[in-house]
Amino acid sequence: MYTTLLVTHSLIRWLVLISLLYSLYRAYSGWLGNKAFTKSDNSIRHITATIAHVQLIVGLWLYFISPIINYFLHHYEEAKKQDEIRFFGMEHSVMMLIAIIIITIGSAKAKRKITDRGKFKTMAIWYSVALFIILVCIPWKFSPLASRPYFRIF
Ligand code: HEM
Repeated sequence: MYTTLLVTHSLIRWLVLISLLYSLYRAYSGWLGNKAFTKSDNSIRHITATIAHVQLIVGLWLYFISPIINYFLHHYEEAKKQDEIRFFGMEHSVMMLIAIIIITIGSAKAKRKITDRGKFKTMAIWYSVALFIILVCIPWKFSPLASRPYFRIF
């Protein structure tokens, strides 16, 4: 179960990134180009938030079964001195949770805006902030905090 969740969580990271980047492309070109907010813009707004929510569920599930988190929670004093363990136990989990909350708020606010320009602008700003946090907190292969593969295979 643990490996399945880890592989799934690693893979969904790409869906989160692709959907956010595509949403942002639509949002900025709609906002700056004064376009109409179409049904497909609305769908991509919604799909992006849904993918982030799926990642949140898998992430939370991982949190409860991961041996790394188990060690972090039960040996906190020792664990907080070890970069990789602290990264997953605190920085990664907390910052990603915040990023997903930002996506959720941005999506809900964009939905409620009356003008098309307001919808695009709201989506552009909130999703940009979330993307920034996510990019910083992913354990990229080159990250000094925690290095994980781009694609994890069983
Ligand atoms: C957009 C949101 C997120 C992205 C893009 C993301 C991405 C990743 C990636 C790429 C890994 C490394 C997977 C591997 O080892 O191959 C990882 C690990 C992990 N993530 Fe996330 N994550 C997100 C949100 C969360 C959240 C919200 C939580 C928990 C509340 C979480 C908990 C974890 C844990 C516990 C691990 C490490 C598990 C282990 O190695 O035992 N993630 N995440």
